[in-house]
Amino acid sequence: MRTLWANASVATCDDSGRVFARGAVVTDDERIAWVGDESEIPTGLRPDRVIELAGRWLTPGLIDCHTHVVYAGQRAGEFARRTAGTSYADIAREGGGILSTVRSTRAASLDELLRQSAPRVQSLLQEGVTTVEIKSGYGLDYETERRMLLAARALGQQLPVTVVTSLLAAHALPEDFKDRADDYIDLVCTSWLPRFAREQGLVDMVDAYCEDIAFSAAQCDRLFAAATALGWPVRLHAEQLGNVGGSRVGAKHRALACDHLEYATASDALELSRAGTVAVMLPVAWYVLADPHLPPIEHFRSHGVPMAVASDANPGSAPGASLQIAMNMARRLFGLTSVEVLDGVTRHAARALGLHDTHGRLAPGCVADFAVWSIDTLDELGYWIGYNPCSMVVRSGAIVLERNV
Ligand code: NIG
Ligand code: FE
Repeated sequence: MRTLWANASVATCDDSGRVFARGAVVTDDERIAWVGDESEIPTGLRPDRVIELAGRWLTPGLIDCHTHVVYAGQRAGEFARRTAGTSYADIAREGGGILSTVRSTRAASLDELLRQSAPRVQSLLQEGVTTVEIKSGYGLDYETERRMLLAARALGQQLPVTVVTSLLAAHALPEDFKDRADDYIDLVCTSWLPRFAREQGLVDMVDAYCEDIAFSAAQCDRLFAAATALGWPVRLHAEQLGNVGGSRVGAKHRALACDHLEYATASDALELSRAGTVAVMLPVAWYVLADPHLPPIEHFRSHGVPMAVASDANPGSAPGASLQIAMNMARRLFGLTSVEVLDGVTRHAARALGLHDTHGRLAPGCVADFAVWSIDTLDELGYWIGYNPCSMVVRSGAIVLERNV
């Protein structure tokens, strides 16, 4: 069916950054056929139906390119300890932090994981998110990592959202491998990766946490060599709490994304730009962990590193699931402009997931995923806190959500 989405202000978020104040979009089923000024709709494009958008803003559906929404339980007790002064790293060294969520996630069935995770994805969807990346990483044994990935895939079936999965087996060292991180990485490389490769369709990318409290640059290097040999793109959590050389390893393996990067340097930024890697900003984790070290935004800008913005939704450093709060924080705390933030949740986020050709932009041939906003200016995206101006979500050309705002 051919649909004309009429009378909208359209932000294309393509490389040109074009905006049509009196714009329109034409879709053919799940794809975009045409985008432009309403007065210039080609006469040959006769729509079967017209959806009147009454001057609202229309953007690509938002893309949350870094989440850990699949897990069981919560860590409110740790939050209380952290606000009283204990650090995230100290809690991790005591066997809490990620390992605490590993215990509750291992104990949860697939149904239980879905029951707890679906509302988090729903709340992203309400905010205009049409694509979400979901990581494993709270299993740290083959069966639980697999169950998390199955849950992520099931969420993509049950809810009108495109799910991209990352295998994050290298998120923390499981307790039974204490002092044997190399053995754990060997197991992942020689056993788990080939098994996941045989079971096609569960893993889209391979991720790692490169940090003093997690895995070294050399271990991530080994993991990425094994992953890329099996055909997977890689990405990693790098330089969040200190600089241990993660971005250089990411750049070496042409990582789709390097995430966090608070402690990245100017030369890291240069490496990322040469590798075409997206720098994913996670301001909610920065805010919650309250480490004052800011990511080198100016170096990313001057080296032309594309910046994405994501929620990092997880039970430790970013409890909840709000991309709009991340957008606000990226502006207020990291100093990104409203245009940078919008690009960061659309075309650059698509690039971080390897979806640049089809998602995150409004252009002919792209998937017809949109968000419609009851706002006067684009500056209102990443401005509101705790008020959600998203009034419609369209996925693959179909209206999947309408809100009265
Ligand atoms: O992206 N840095 C590692 N992973 C998460 C935190 C996970 C957790 O604390 O449960 C992050 O911030
Ligand atoms: Fe993360």
